[in-house]
Amino acid sequence: MKKIIALVLALLLIMIGCVACATPDDVADDTSETTTTPDNDNNDGDSKEKPVLKMATNAYFQPYEFYKDGKIVGIDAEIAAAIAEYMGYELEIVDMEFDSIITAVKEGSVDFGMAGMTVTEKRLLEIDFSNSYATGVQSIIVPANSPITSVDDLYADGANYKIGVQRGTTGDIYATDDFGSENVTTYDNGNGAVLALLGGDVDCVIIDNEPAKALVNANEGLAILDTSYADEDYAICIKKGNSALLEKINEAIVALTADGTIDEIVAKYIPAE
Ligand code: ARG
Repeated sequence: MKKIIALVLALLLIMIGCVACATPDDVADDTSETTTTPDNDNNDGDSKEKPVLKMATNAYFQPYEFYKDGKIVGIDAEIAAAIAEYMGYELEIVDMEFDSIITAVKEGSVDFGMAGMTVTEKRLLEIDFSNSYATGVQSIIVPANSPITSVDDLYADGANYKIGVQRGTTGDIYATDDFGSENVTTYDNGNGAVLALLGGDVDCVIIDNEPAKALVNANEGLAILDTSYADEDYAICIKKGNSALLEKINEAIVALTADGTIDEIVAKYIPAE
């Protein structure tokens, strides 16, 4: 009989114990779903509570932003993640057409745009730019046996070459200014332009130098001209008037430059030659 009483007691104690240990979790789960308890000490509450910073990009621009195993990676993706972390935010990347990024930033559907985007006077009329975090060069891709051997050939008397570009990029804008829209064909991204080059639809492609290298490496029979078409600065674009965000991002860029983070990220994707 004593044994039975002891057993019942033991069972009771276990049950009470279970109820006791189940309660905090239930409460934590409840509080994590309500906004009334911002300082709940739920373990996974911290990451859930982090505010989100939304970045717009166009992820067909290796090594700045591209898909790897279904995830957007690259120089911009990593620098943006470091900036967000510095600011205490979680980064969310939204992939879109390159020529939609400035509109998305202006409308406020994203917090900023980062896409190997060149600072230009015209863009500055629409949006603000952060400090520059990298430089870029517009290069020219040609078939290996092309009659075009330097940038000057494009301007030669009687030259009437067809040029492929990514829509809305500086390559598109400059080439249209210099050679007329009738000689410039726009594509959704650099891959599309290079496919057109391989198919003989255009005579050359004007695109940023690092993506040009990635495209030439991935496709046989192409070369990059030694002479470049334009030198540029890349920066992050932010809605005009959002000076609090602009200042924070600039502060992060200064800190991440000083501690070597930005150089490290760039070197990871663009190994020194
Ligand atoms: N630097 C060029 C520009 O600002 C091209 C950028 C294209 N970027 C991209 N992620 N597709 O116009």
